[in-house]
Amino acid sequence: MANTNLANAKTAKNDEFYTQYNDIQKEINAYLDYDPNVFRGKTVLLPCDDPEWSNFTKFFAQNFELLGLKKLISTSYAPESKKYKIPYEPTLFETQQPYFDNDKSKTHGKIFVLDRDVTGDNRINIEDLQWQYLEGDGDFRSREIRKLRDEADIIVTNPPFSLFREFVAWIMEASKKFLIIGNINAVSYKEIFPLLMGNKIWTGNRFNERVNGKNMTFFVPDYYEMKGTELYVDDNGNKFISVAGTGWFTNLEHGRRHAPLKLMTMAENFKHSKHKEVRGRKEYVHYENYDAIEVPFADAIPRDYEGIMGVPISFISKYCPEQFEILGITDRGNQYGIKTKEYTPQDTPLYGDLNRRAAILVDGQLKSTYARILIRKKQSQ
Ligand SMILES: C[S@@+](CC[C@H](N)C(=O)[O-])C[C@H]1O[C@@H](n2cnc3c(N)ncnc32)[C@H](O)[C@@H]1O
Repeated sequence: MANTNLANAKTAKNDEFYTQYNDIQKEINAYLDYDPNVFRGKTVLLPCDDPEWSNFTKFFAQNFELLGLKKLISTSYAPESKKYKIPYEPTLFETQQPYFDNDKSKTHGKIFVLDRDVTGDNRINIEDLQWQYLEGDGDFRSREIRKLRDEADIIVTNPPFSLFREFVAWIMEASKKFLIIGNINAVSYKEIFPLLMGNKIWTGNRFNERVNGKNMTFFVPDYYEMKGTELYVDDNGNKFISVAGTGWFTNLEHGRRHAPLKLMTMAENFKHSKHKEVRGRKEYVHYENYDAIEVPFADAIPRDYEGIMGVPISFISKYCPEQFEILGITDRGNQYGIKTKEYTPQDTPLYGDLNRRAAILVDGQLKSTYARILIRKKQSQ
């Protein structure tokens, strides 16, 4: 019980990571490059936000006219509902309003709406945002926020880490366009993988990528305990955390998704691959329990192989649906019908591990690989 509480506290703490303006801007630019009208005439909802200071609200409000938005709605979650309790102080912005309510400020979420010029300067921008308290706490699962979801065309946010699966399901059940932040760990979730495999969702422009030597970096609240190498404080005392494997998931089109990987043939890989595991070999290792070959690096995928190949999970951000099809993933039961053998305790004491993964023979011993995505060259290629 104590362990569960600790684990919950840890994941809830990770719910309070805030996205930097530059990361939002760069990502949105990738969708605008592909389709300059992607947001034109659209209602955008930013749930799970803190609109008084969130960079999502700031970015979309500042660029309202440029993007051609019809309406921007952003909502926040009540401080007292947050699992990770923060010492809460309402902002000046809130307390200065005549309808400021000290109790509601803690127990209710807020809604910010931008859809017209309120100040009369003939422009629609951040000055025209209007806010009020929500009826409830702003939980995205509440009826009130569901209604806003149904009104929206596109949902954009960095959702709470601990509720990622639920958040994706919440979007998918309403068939909405979306752009959200998540982690590579989610790729193999049983709720998420089938969506990636079926091209219902995909990774965004930036995913699991270090930029200037850094993983995607988030602003964390002041009280965040500084531990580990990925945490640092800037000159102004702001705290940041870099999180490996982080990036965007979306169902909005962008150019990178359609850029095929540049690959060598199998023979060229044996001759020129930079990986010692591939160069100098005569063949790729065939799995013992899947009818597929093991390709330990995405850049070692042989472009002339017609059969099924097992590739690392990180392939997902390089996946171009015109180049490959995804047939399954190794770390489950034979859900995708590609497995050729189930091990039993009679075969090996490692049978449980081998059945969850792809098995290879190394020096006559059965070994399991890391989780692999199973892919095949598109027939038309
Ligand atoms: C990862 S933070 C991101 C905040 C903001 N979107 C950003 O990126 O700067 C997720 C936010 O969702 C809030 N949250 C947690 N559970 C929620 C729920 N059930 N409904 C709505 N928001 C929730 C957290 O308190 C936190 O403020």
